[in-house]
Amino acid sequence: MAGKLTNEEKEYYSTVRKTFAMLAPFYDAIVTPFSSVRDRVVNFTNAQMGSKILEVATGTGQQAFAFAKKGYEVIGIDISEAMINVAKKKNKFRNAKFEISDATNLPFEDNSFDVSSISFALHEMPLSIREKVLKEMVRVTKPEGIIVTVDYDLPKNKIGRLLIYHFIALFEAKYYKNFIKFDLEALLNKNKIKIIEKDTILHGAGRILKGLNKKS
Ligand SMILES: C[S@@+](CC[C@H](N)C(=O)[O-])C[C@H]1O[C@@H](n2cnc3c(N)ncnc32)[C@H](O)[C@@H]1O
Repeated sequence: MAGKLTNEEKEYYSTVRKTFAMLAPFYDAIVTPFSSVRDRVVNFTNAQMGSKILEVATGTGQQAFAFAKKGYEVIGIDISEAMINVAKKKNKFRNAKFEISDATNLPFEDNSFDVSSISFALHEMPLSIREKVLKEMVRVTKPEGIIVTVDYDLPKNKIGRLLIYHFIALFEAKYYKNFIKFDLEALLNKNKIKIIEKDTILHGAGRILKGLNKKS
């Protein structure tokens, strides 16, 4: 955790730690609907062989494993010890490693990674944390490196939007409602991530954004 925290941030950290300590043993079963997305993210990222990848807020490591399976060197980080413990237990890859770390204060030098990715985590964060996480991803990713975000979206048609919004709001954390109405692309642009490709997933309920790190 970097610097002085607002009350909202303190509440967020406490909720995240408690929630994922409780969910960790069942998490993989809960996110079964996302299984098909993992390989798709790897293909969409299309990183050069030999790339070093940081998987941020990796949870139980499903996205990190998908990158590792293709031969990339991956480090997955997460703030939840319980989630990282599940990832470590399931890890069969020598080229995947996991560490407990806060994404707003990453323990890596500037420009350490060719690619950084974050899946289904930004929607759970208050805006201030979301922005700090993106800034850290930009810092540790090389200039012109790839930054990938995978998260919820709403389908184009009106009825689909309404159904998906109310369905996901039933079980998601309180920041989902803010996230889904919020302009993620503008936040990425503001933080020097230039979006170069987009992909729709989960029948319009999610999207992958691939950006280039344009920090100078
Ligand atoms: C919904 S889970 C997503 C996990 C995984 N990325 C996936 O796609 O299945 C959100 C994860 O974000 C992690 N997280 C939340 N805030 C974080 C922070 N500030 N730093 C690192 N991890 C964080 C949580 O501990 C949790 O594992």
